[in-house]
Amino acid sequence: MEAPRTVSTVAQVPLVSDHLLKPICSLSFNQKRPKSPLTRYPKSILTKFTAISPSVSAKPISPPEVETETFEHDEQFDWFSHWYALMPVCDLDKRAPHGMKVLGLDVVVWWDRNQNEWKVFDDRCPHRLAPLSEGRIDQWGRLQCVYHGWCFSGAGNCKLIPQAPLDGPPVHSLPKACVAGYPSTVQNGIVWFWPNTDPEYKDILTKKKPPYIPELDDPSFSFQMFNRDIPYGYEVLIENLMDPSHVDREGGTPIDVNIQKLDKNGFTTIEQPNRKWNFVAPCLLQGTLTIKESLDNTQGKLAQKPPRKDIFIFFCAPVSPGNCRLVSVFPRNFRLWKDPFVSRWMHHIMQNLVIDSDFYLLRVQEEKLTEAGPLNWQKVCFVPTKADTNVVAFRKWLKKYAGGQINWGPKFNGSISPTPLREQLMDRYWSHVVNCSSCNGAYRGFNALKISLQVLSVALVAIMAASKPVMLSTTVRNTLAVVAVLCFVGSKWLSHFIYKNFHFHDYNHAFK
Ligand code: FES
Repeated sequence: MEAPRTVSTVAQVPLVSDHLLKPICSLSFNQKRPKSPLTRYPKSILTKFTAISPSVSAKPISPPEVETETFEHDEQFDWFSHWYALMPVCDLDKRAPHGMKVLGLDVVVWWDRNQNEWKVFDDRCPHRLAPLSEGRIDQWGRLQCVYHGWCFSGAGNCKLIPQAPLDGPPVHSLPKACVAGYPSTVQNGIVWFWPNTDPEYKDILTKKKPPYIPELDDPSFSFQMFNRDIPYGYEVLIENLMDPSHVDREGGTPIDVNIQKLDKNGFTTIEQPNRKWNFVAPCLLQGTLTIKESLDNTQGKLAQKPPRKDIFIFFCAPVSPGNCRLVSVFPRNFRLWKDPFVSRWMHHIMQNLVIDSDFYLLRVQEEKLTEAGPLNWQKVCFVPTKADTNVVAFRKWLKKYAGGQINWGPKFNGSISPTPLREQLMDRYWSHVVNCSSCNGAYRGFNALKISLQVLSVALVAIMAASKPVMLSTTVRNTLAVVAVLCFVGSKWLSHFIYKNFHFHDYNHAFK
């Protein structure tokens, strides 16, 4: 293998002549700007941005730059040789198997109480391929397929075939009766799995571990885990999460982001003044905002307080073309006093609101990118400012090390299904609530309260109707009537609250 060499490169952006670019690039920070810089130019000029003749005196604009980049020949990223985050442990029920899909692989996650471990198996029974995730954990702690009752141990061995005669050959012990198990582990409170059942990876954990986040095991940090199935692709999700501009689009200012390092394993960028972005391929995106504290003089002597850290951690897993899964967590070591007042499901309502706001536009964007083809991102997107550095770095990484797209193996060709209706696209119940222990509990609790209020309201009306005037004074009757109305209104309000927060919340940017 050739020794690594260091090259200085520039991220790929269209070449444009100075006189076309200057009005865009020379905007000062305080200058009042139109909503989009591109609206200043006639369409005919804009279309030239991607088609400048080499004979024109063209210079690259000041694009996101790669300062140093390690490059080795034949470095292809192997999507099936990395750990993937599946689900926070707190959202997994030990009493039932859970079906999931990652990289097009159907897996079942279940708690093996005999070994005190979460196991990840291929989600198909060796008998007739029924999904084991539709099964149960039997009384001996084995995973049981409910179709015909075959049972499997945590090692994947078949322990019981109910239809096999006791005095017949031990067919359950044949290798073909076993289920394939994936390497798995729990780290940072999350179940991880390695998407390859080949025996050579059986002890992969001793050689390679999932990316570790020390703050998630540090009691001085507070956080809540979140998970959601996302109805657009992994690439679009990663871009969206690492894009600092889209959060503050109207009052936005120039954002100075520079790439520090990019190689097969990911990249690091610095967003001025104090945020560091780290993409550890393929799963982890981490943004760390560090604020140095002033010296602490409370005890008579100066002492350095630990810096405040506000960390965005996103674990993104490709599910299938046009679908992915997000596990996110935002640890911080300051303003901890407010945590007891905000429960986990309240956090999630806010997070779902933020994520939902871009669902539709990102899904449509993905359709356009898919039409353009995985290697043409640089041709169809115009990314002239440093605010897009993270996205340019990601697309550069994807193109250079993965041929511009996820390798799904033989299962998918990369095409995506048409965009579904908004209500289906932004559904929260099936994409989050059923998979979140906290939101699921709140959902059931609110529904129970709603039904209780309805029953109470009807009961009060019935009491008033059944009782004679002499039995109830006017005051009591009026009080009952008010309570009945309040219960009815409360149940209606709860019904609306449940629908908006646990099922579907539409988002119209024009009226926000
Ligand atoms: S398909 Fe599982 S036991 Fe028959």
